This record gives sequence, C-alpha cells and structure tokens, in this order.
Amino acid sequence: MLHVPESPRSTTSSFSGLSSSPPMLHADTLALLESFLSSKAEEEKRFNELAEQAAARVAGLALNLHFEDEQDPPMMTVDEYRLAFSEDWQLSQFWYTTAFATRLAKHVRSLCTPSSTVAFMCCPTAFVAFQHTNPLEGAKLLEYDGRFTVLAPHKFVHYDLNEPDTFPESLRGTVDLVIIDPPFLNEPTNAGLVQTTRQILHPQRGKLLLLTGTSTEPILDRLYDKSPVGPLRRTSLEVEHGGLANEFACWGSWDGAEDFGKDDSE
Ligand SMILES: C[S@@+](CC[C@H](N)C(=O)[O-])C[C@H]1O[C@@H](n2cnc3c(N)ncnc32)[C@H](O)[C@@H]1O
Repeated sequence: MLHVPESPRSTTSSFSGLSSSPPMLHADTLALLESFLSSKAEEEKRFNELAEQAAARVAGLALNLHFEDEQDPPMMTVDEYRLAFSEDWQLSQFWYTTAFATRLAKHVRSLCTPSSTVAFMCCPTAFVAFQHTNPLEGAKLLEYDGRFTVLAPHKFVHYDLNEPDTFPESLRGTVDLVIIDPPFLNEPTNAGLVQTTRQILHPQRGKLLLLTGTSTEPILDRLYDKSPVGPLRRTSLEVEHGGLANEFACWGSWDGAEDFGKDDSE
C-alpha cells in the first residue's frame, strides 16, 4: 500500500478538514506511482495485442478450414489458446494454467508411443499443450464446444456426454489412453463419461487418466470400478487451474499409476 505523507507545503492540519489544497504526494512516492501505472499500462497493451493476435489466428484458421487437406495446422501455444478462447462458464469451462498444461503434456507423453491413440475428453487445454509440444497423429479431442474444431479439424470429434453411445466407430476398443476432466462434479456426468470410456478404451492395454474434484471420490470408486477404467489410484500429480477454489486431483487406472507426475512433487 502507498504511504501518503502530509504535504510539506500544507499549512493546516490534514485532520482539520479546512485545507483548501488537496494533499500532495512526496516526489519519490509520485515517481514510484508513475512507474507502476506506466508498467501496468504497458502490460495491458501487450495483453490486448496478444489477445488480438490470437483472435486473428483463430479467425484465420476458421477461414482456411479445409477438411479435405490431410494435415491439420500446427497447434497454437497454450498462451495463445487461453487468450483466444474465453471460458464459457455455462459449459463449466475452467482452463488449466499454461505451466500445468505443459507439465501434464510431458507426463502424458511418457505413457505414449508414436503409434498411440489418445482421446482427450472434455480437456481442450490439455490437448493443445500436448499437440503443441510434440504432436501425435493418433490424438483426438472429444468435446462439446464446437469452437475447437479450428484447432485441429481432423482430430476434433463432437461429443456430448449426455449421448454416451454416440462416437465414431473407428474409436471402439482402440484407444490406448483416455484423459478426462468432467465438466460437472456429479454422478450423471461421470456415468455418461464412463459409459463412453468403457466402449472406446482398448480392453487390455487401455488406460484412463481422470482429473477432477476430490469431492467426487466416493462416486469415482463406484463408477470407475474395474478394468480398463478402474480401479482408480490417486496419482502424484498436483492439478492447477487459473482460479478454482475446489480441491482437484488426478487418478489413473493402471498398476503403478500412483507414480504418475511424481517428479513434479519431489
Ligand atoms: C471442467 S472443463 C475441463 C477443461 C480442462 N480444465 C482444460 O483446461 O482443458 C470441462 C469441459 O467439458 C466440456 N463440456 C461441457 N459440457 C459437455 C457435454 N455435455 N459433453 C461433453 N463435454 C462437455 C466443456 O466445454 C469443457 O471444455
């Protein structure tokens, strides 16, 4: 907090309420305040420029959306993504921090081979971080919000957890790793997600990684009960969002999942 000294030029007590001239800041304090305001304005200007660039990039991607092209465009950075796609709270969208999404991508990568099929369900930031750092041909984003089509037209799959049996047949029993961050912390949401996951995971080698609020733990034990979606083990990964107060954690369905993310907490 700034300390406002009494003006050396003031002739009346500042408590009298009778002074006609407003209190003045000491020159050092004034200089500090000016420098603070100018760096704040610079920061704001930079933020607006970046946000405009990111929005222009998304608009450009939308204009050049050619499904007939075989290749998806290179994935944007998580910072660009966070600026371009505002959180829609009606859809319960809360994005991971850039640092966390990048860390998660690194750990997920350690579970994959170049031929893995990975389904990111309801976690677009995780998908962006993963595809930006080291893109994988077999990565898919299963999401309800169609805005993300522009990011990767061939990898985006429209998905509604309220229609859990509706997904591309090519995914049935073929996915090596499913990563889920459910939009709502309740049983019907998880029931829909688990119903889809059971059908798309490879029955033997399939793994599930679930990031959600710890308040749902009793539901999770019941729903994600047997292979390949369970039983769930709480991993060592600490989950970070921008500004959510709820306690979050991460669970994995495979033997040894407890060690996932361990080198972060050491
Ligand atoms: C809690 S957010 C998780 C996002 C994650 N923290 C991230 O940063 O990638 C839940 C996601 O579920 C999606 N979603 C909301 N309703 C959905 C529905 N009915 N079916 C599938 N996905 C849905 C939202 O669009 C959002 O991306």
